[in-house]
Amino acid sequence: MKESDIGLIGLAVMGENLALNMESKGFCVSLYNRPHPKEEAVVDKFLEGRGKGKNFKGTHTIEELVKSVKRPRRIMMMVKAGAPVDELIEQLLPYLEPGDVLIDGGNSDFHDTERRVEELAKHNIYFVGTGISGGEEGALHGPSIMPGGAPEAWPLVKDVLQSIAAKLDDGTPCCAWIGSGGAGHFVKMVHNGIEYGDMQLIAEAYSLLKQTENSGNEELAAVFREWGKGDLNSYLIDITADILDFKDENGHYLLDSILDVAGQKGTGKWSVEAALDQGAPLTLITEAVFARFLSSLLSERKKASRIYRDSPVLAQLYMSGGRDAIKDALYASKLISYTQGFSLMKEASDFYKWDLDYGVIAKIWRKGCIIRSVFLTKITEAYAKEPLLENLLFDSFFSNKIQEALPSWRSVVADGALNGIPLPCMSSALSYFDGLSTLHSSANLIQAQRDYFGAHTYERKDAERGEFFHTDWTGKGGNTVSGSYNA
Ligand code: 6PG
Repeated sequence: MKESDIGLIGLAVMGENLALNMESKGFCVSLYNRPHPKEEAVVDKFLEGRGKGKNFKGTHTIEELVKSVKRPRRIMMMVKAGAPVDELIEQLLPYLEPGDVLIDGGNSDFHDTERRVEELAKHNIYFVGTGISGGEEGALHGPSIMPGGAPEAWPLVKDVLQSIAAKLDDGTPCCAWIGSGGAGHFVKMVHNGIEYGDMQLIAEAYSLLKQTENSGNEELAAVFREWGKGDLNSYLIDITADILDFKDENGHYLLDSILDVAGQKGTGKWSVEAALDQGAPLTLITEAVFARFLSSLLSERKKASRIYRDSPVLAQLYMSGGRDAIKDALYASKLISYTQGFSLMKEASDFYKWDLDYGVIAKIWRKGCIIRSVFLTKITEAYAKEPLLENLLFDSFFSNKIQEALPSWRSVVADGALNGIPLPCMSSALSYFDGLSTLHSSANLIQAQRDYFGAHTYERKDAERGEFFHTDWTGKGGNTVSGSYNA
């Protein structure tokens, strides 16, 4: 019997659609799903349903799956991140042979991927951890794919991954090799963090428009549709417009019936953890994650609103700049979010020696993924001009945009504060911008305080960097100083 081109394990939503996508590109795909406690014969069911008459091979044991794929084998795992991936690897290992490639297409933690690449290398198995973005529809018609791991694997998996990926207008696939170890999953994690930021910023704009204009859903949908035609053109703005005027079977706007408590599966939180590890100020994404946490404190919010929301200060809603100012604030904040996300990737790339290509990353996010947008073209252009750009805000396109939006952005954040409309992401973006562009900050006082109470030492403006001083501030301290190391 003819061997298949690739094996795929895990026929949940993403796995099933990826398998169909691969088959439609001419690949014969072997399929396996672990025995399901509730649902029997997942593979057979798929082959009788969506997979009927197509070039698939159904298998019912791990051994059968592995043996049905031609060598060097390519086997993609589409299972829940965490322990299930390790368990599956354990089950696969006895049947795999040196040179085979194992691909994890789930949203795995990049630390796990780093470890798995190393562990499997000991068995001469090439491990690839790949981010795949685009949801169900993307998986079927073309997602954005971010593979990383054992570099030897790339020539072996490139044809499949690039052929199923979304394509830019010039035919470039939205799939490129990201780097060694956990680089692919790290970049996907940052993608998701940026996704959190974009979503929260859109939600803040929605809240501002709704509360200050008293606009109905139809009108709000029209505003987002209009915005989606210009600089803010993106998938998330488009779906926001669709969501706003979507009516349920009773003719009511569905959005108005949805509980305002946001969930999360963890990739946003991981981005924040990575930023803390790297010492990178990822303030906007952090606020987006915390905004979801805050939204879930429903009973506390109810209590607090009873105590505070009758206050006369908060009764009058007033917005000085109107719609255009909100749009400017949204755009400028989005620039800050991407700036912070790319700076985090730069820190991590230097630390883990991944040699990330930021222009390529922006390029493969332009189609297929959840954060796809026109704006990413500008990031690609910025890195094409200067591949080692220290911070996106130093690019002339970005700095001009920020300067243009700045007055409106400041007035929107101020109006939000005056009107009691929470704008965690728009305001943290502005604070980051002001912090970054402040030449003489107040950190001298922090250093003085640290030295005063703990002899932590400080550097002086009139001395070389790296030279540390201590002062006996009270006249009662000794000369012993604490170490001047930084976390
Ligand atoms: C994608 C998405 C996806 C993510 C979901 C859920 O790129 O296709 O980022 O990978 O898992 O959007 O994310 P939360 O549940 O954390 O919001």
